[in-house]
Amino acid sequence: MVTQVDEIRDALTKVKAMSADRATAMPAGYYTSEDFTDLEAEQVFRKDWVCLGRADEVKEPGDFFTTELIGEQLLVTRGKDEAIRVLSNVCRHRGNMVASGRGKKSRFSCSYHAWTYDLEGQLLAAPLMSEVEGFKTSNFKLPSFKTEVWEGFLFVNLDGNAEPLAPRLSKLMPFIENYDVADRIHGFTEETTWQTNWKCLAENFMEGYHLDVTHPKTLRPLTPTGLCEYVPSDGNFNAYYSYYDPKYPERGPFPPNLTAKEKRCSFMFGVFPNLVVAAAPNVLIFLCLSPNSSNAVNIRWGMSSLPETEGVSDEQRDFMNQVNAEDKLKLETLQKGLQSRYYRSGPLAKQDLEGTIFDMYRYMATRLGSDVALD
Ligand code: FES
Ligand SMILES: [Fe+2]
Repeated sequence: MVTQVDEIRDALTKVKAMSADRATAMPAGYYTSEDFTDLEAEQVFRKDWVCLGRADEVKEPGDFFTTELIGEQLLVTRGKDEAIRVLSNVCRHRGNMVASGRGKKSRFSCSYHAWTYDLEGQLLAAPLMSEVEGFKTSNFKLPSFKTEVWEGFLFVNLDGNAEPLAPRLSKLMPFIENYDVADRIHGFTEETTWQTNWKCLAENFMEGYHLDVTHPKTLRPLTPTGLCEYVPSDGNFNAYYSYYDPKYPERGPFPPNLTAKEKRCSFMFGVFPNLVVAAAPNVLIFLCLSPNSSNAVNIRWGMSSLPETEGVSDEQRDFMNQVNAEDKLKLETLQKGLQSRYYRSGPLAKQDLEGTIFDMYRYMATRLGSDVALD
């Protein structure tokens, strides 16, 4: 019997042979199938590098935050040795969550029975357990996952088998290096959930077609649809220039090496699978996405400022909140539309506007096409 997941995987395989100017949208099941979402969790989110946020969210020893990724509870810490660790936030006693929220601590005490761990995840103390024969705290440590920091973004690889990330992104570097992405200073991060598929949001953030219509008062006067310019992908990222309307005032201050052209645009890029970024001259906006279910995306998003400014301004934050609210509205109705049995995939717009979506399809095809052997 051919399942819906088989059909979706076949559709991904067809993408590999499709030319970009004939690209059509993926079938609805790609965005609505719970079984396909489970497959993505196993084959993409456990196996590839997944961005959790900015490394300077845990700037000093003891800084930490917690988050959830495809049902795994994670604890991100900066140790006394200055190293960042991503630990399993699950107590080695009976499995409660060890830490919650974010902040600064020298040790983490599970609130259930007070087993206490250090910043590296080593168990230090466990009340009354000395009365249990053979019990030794040294035998218990929270599992830790492979991490990599690229351009100030913190990535985790759950299964530990991914090749180093930075070499894969070498073709993206010339486009972003003048924006000094690594040096941007963390302003804030928020977590939220929208009722849409994670890929709908990734695609939406990375396409300029919707800007005029979805954001008539916010982005249209700044980065109109007609000024979007596609950047070719090598399969690891997608990107486009979102040029500013010539009437729009300068967005300084500027990183020192930014060219005249780069001063007049936001460079939009996505690192597959889950990070999307807007690198504007004076502010950096990032979203880290992960599926909560087929119909819901967990979002860790935030903004970082240039070192020479006084942090992210209220005005910049309010502006992004407005833009996000506009996108959320469209993406949640999109998800409802995609539940229909009568929807048939339509053609994508030209490359400058939706070529980035096709690039993401191609990435997904390399991970989940029907010609790919899954384990
Ligand atoms: S579950 Fe954490 S101390 Fe018991
Ligand atoms: Fe948008």
